Formats: sequence, structure tokens, C-alpha cells
Amino acid sequence: MKCKDLLSIADILPSDIEEIFHVTRELKEWHNKGYDEKCLDGKILGMIFEKSSMRTRVSFEVAMIQLGGHAIYLTQSDINLGKREAVKDGARVLSRYVDGIAIRTFGQDTIQELARYATVPVINALSDYLHPCQALTDMYTIKEKFGNYTSIKIAFVGDGNNVARSLAQICARLGLCFHVASPKGYELTPDFISKIKQMTNGSDIIRLYQDPKEAVEKAHVIYTDTWVSMGQEAEKEVRQKAFKDFQINSDILKLARDEVKVMHCLPAHRGEEITDEVIDGPHSIVYDQAENRLHVEKALLKLLLRK
Ligand code: CP
Ligand code: NVA
Repeated sequence: MKCKDLLSIADILPSDIEEIFHVTRELKEWHNKGYDEKCLDGKILGMIFEKSSMRTRVSFEVAMIQLGGHAIYLTQSDINLGKREAVKDGARVLSRYVDGIAIRTFGQDTIQELARYATVPVINALSDYLHPCQALTDMYTIKEKFGNYTSIKIAFVGDGNNVARSLAQICARLGLCFHVASPKGYELTPDFISKIKQMTNGSDIIRLYQDPKEAVEKAHVIYTDTWVSMGQEAEKEVRQKAFKDFQINSDILKLARDEVKVMHCLPAHRGEEITDEVIDGPHSIVYDQAENRLHVEKALLKLLLRK
């Protein structure tokens, strides 16, 4: 990978994604045979988390330990970035202590600013706008399950949120069809869609629907995420009403391909965006997907921190 940071899938090339996937496959195979390459011996990852996390926090921390390094978990009350001190001061000082920074926060602009002033690699561990580590993992998982992703259609049913945006970006980079069904007012915005078009030299890889039944027709993958993302808790009731017909249940699954796979970035809200029957059923690959966060992030850390 040529770039210093991973802030957005829009910043990386298809060849970077292939390189990440190649290293992921190697590290995963070795790990499953009982061997972890200690390529980050003595390296330290600072992890700034201003929002809750289970998968991202644990997978990054375990990844560092398995590769021979360490991770330091910093919450908002520890460093209070942007309030106790300017983001650029935090970036400059942390760069003198650690070898890389993973950050989960609200504004994508905070992450961009941190990366601008940090001399060490910065990894976006989720912002309100994007979730690139999730999208990389999702596409790696799709490749693992289907063998390739060139003829795959993904139907995303739900909010045009951070997860949907990063998935749209990676579909644009790799040439997959991305069909999105969202209630009115919760769609991917025209401004975002035009940025995706620029990434694909004008070709339409995204189609928007208001009816989830139309979006999932003949889909290889159905993907969903929470109706209420972190930071939107005050809108919970309004959102639950708006999204009530956008649930992934066994009826909607019948409209997709027989071999359809169901994905969810987790945490899931069982009985809301997805039913127990579907998430626990034979089409669900959500736990393989969650496991792959570890392997993909190990590859990312190896490629970015070893430089
Ligand atoms: N999918 C994901 O990022 O999970 P966490 O919020 O638990 O990290
Ligand atoms: N869209 C969700 C993703 C959680 C991993 C959120 O931002 O809360």
C-alpha cells in the first residue's frame, strides 16, 4: 500500500485492496495452523475510541498482540481530543509515542485532521460518515464465500449510513452492483452518489429503491445494519417507525437467490432490522464476517505499521 493512512476506501486503489486481501489470506491460514508472524514486534497502536465498540476494539487489540505488538486503549475521558487540546497537538504528540493510531469518533473531519498532523499511520475505526475496515472485511468475506466478486449483486436494506457508504465505495472500486433500499429521507444522498460515479468513471453501480422487495430480487448478498446508529439515539422512535418495513426476515429472503448470504456488521437488533430466524439461520454468514475483522485488520496493520 502506498498511502500512509486508511481513512476512506475512496483513497485506496483496487491493487491496495488486492494486496490487503492477499496478506489477509496468508495471515489467516498461518493463524489457523497455529502460527502468527511477529512482524510488529515492539510496535504500539494507540486506539482512540469516542464511541462504544466490541468487534473493532477487540479485533485491533488482539491483532496487535498476535503480531507481536501492543495496543493502548484511550477513551474520550482519557484524552478528550479536540477539547482538552487541539486535534493537531494530539496527533503530533501521540506520533512521538506510538507507531500507529486507530480512531473511532463522530466527525470524519476529525479523523482527516488527525491524519494530516500525525506522522504515524492513522486508521479510521468508524466515523459517522464511513466505516472502511468493515467494508474491507465484508468484501474479503464475500470473496471467501463466492470465490470472486465480479458478478455479485449486493442488496443493502436500511439506512444510507456509514456502513452503506463504505460498502458503496468498495463496490465502486471493485465493480460490484450495489442496490440500496431505504425509506424516504434516509437514502444515500445525491452528492454522495455523484462522488461514487466519479470513482467509476460515470458508470452506475448503485441503484436506489424505496421497496426492499425490489432491491433484493436475485441478490447474492443481503446486507443490513442498525436503524439507529451511535449518536442517533434521540431519533430512535422516529427511525423505528420509518424503517419498520425494512426488516430482513424469511419472507424477503425468498425473493433473493436460493444461495443468498445474509450479512450484518453487528451489533444486531434482533426483531428490528433482522429476525432471529434469519441471523441464526443457514443463510447467515455474520459470524464468519465478524471473525474476518481480525484477519483483515492484521493485514492492514502489517502493511501500514511495518513501513
Ligand atoms: N461492526 C463493528 O464495528 O462493531 P463494533 O461497533 O462492536 O466495533
Ligand atoms: N451504523 C452503525 C455501525 C456500527 C458498527 C453505527 O454507526 O452505530
